[in-house]
Amino acid sequence: MENLKRIAVLTSGGDAPGMNAAIRAVVRTSFNNGIEVYGIMRGYDGLIKNDFRKLESRDVSNIIQTGGTILKTARCPEFREKEGRIKAFENLKKNKIDGLIVIGGDGSFAGASLLSKEHNFPVIGIPGTIDNDLYGTDYTIGYDTALNNIVAAVDKIRDTASSHNRIFFIEVMGREAGFIALRSGIASGAEAILIPEVNGQIEKLMELMSKRTQDKRSSIIIVAEGEREGNIFDIAKMVEKKFKDVDVRVSILGHIQRGGSPTAFDRVTASRMGVAAVDALMNDQRSIMVGIANNDIVHVPLNKTVKLNKSINMGLLEIVDILI
Ligand code: ADP
Ligand code: F6P
Repeated sequence: MENLKRIAVLTSGGDAPGMNAAIRAVVRTSFNNGIEVYGIMRGYDGLIKNDFRKLESRDVSNIIQTGGTILKTARCPEFREKEGRIKAFENLKKNKIDGLIVIGGDGSFAGASLLSKEHNFPVIGIPGTIDNDLYGTDYTIGYDTALNNIVAAVDKIRDTASSHNRIFFIEVMGREAGFIALRSGIASGAEAILIPEVNGQIEKLMELMSKRTQDKRSSIIIVAEGEREGNIFDIAKMVEKKFKDVDVRVSILGHIQRGGSPTAFDRVTASRMGVAAVDALMNDQRSIMVGIANNDIVHVPLNKTVKLNKSINMGLLEIVDILI
């Protein structure tokens, strides 16, 4: 786009480690191409309330290593309404913004896609969510850091689980998806992984429990928070009721999964995507997500990322059964 003089960037939905690295990449790439950048505070909330702040190259120094987002984030019900998006568009015009970059998850992209379509405005999405549940990209920013946070926590729990011969049910995040549970479960050597995408897991778990031997008394069971066959406490109770000899504990890892310094993998992913997002605007893209597929940058229409579901790699689940 020849007239790309000024762009804006915001972070929306749940924060994810690596969002700052993406903001840094957007600001520095723009700076190197003579484009001004404005940061919008608190996602769509700041867009509607006109909270825009100019970002210079030095404003993004020393943030590549930090978790969270320097632009803050929010969930904004008003943006779900057409009137809210009209206010947002008016503020983009008022601030003479030629293109918007939205760093967030599928909810944020649903809003971004509508804004772009309703007002014919260029919007580029960068996938930033620990859940890794976005269609069209192998990885989302923050997923790898969350996995490493979980593995570190489960390793600690395993020490106490094995000392007491206990069965630990550990709940991990992921909203309605099981990507976090599946990969963190494999990486932490879990004996079973329960994810919303698969049915009949409770039965399988009971079978596994009944086959426990005297020399294998402790187990780690990873349960995705979106598990549909029951919540973690009910599942743990079911096991306790059926197997009187077991000592069961439940641990909910919670928001510890979403914090901390991003891994090298997330920093590189975020940097690549940040550069690609500005490039996409310069190349007249109007409503796409920049993702990574087979280690290459790809462009995926925003409405496709919203409508289509990413599928779970069932081969990974088979690995769990083989490695018990
Ligand atoms: P994430 O982007 O991490 O999935 P949310 O689902 O909470 O997080 O969405 C973030 C924000 O995106 C919401 O607070 C809302 O402002 C906007 N949003 C979500 N879904 C829609 C939708 N269907 N239409 C318009 N805006 C939406
Ligand atoms: O989408 C990221 C995520 O961390 C999900 O895994 C989780 O379900 C949700 O956000 C938690 O949201 P909140 O921080 O609003 O409790």
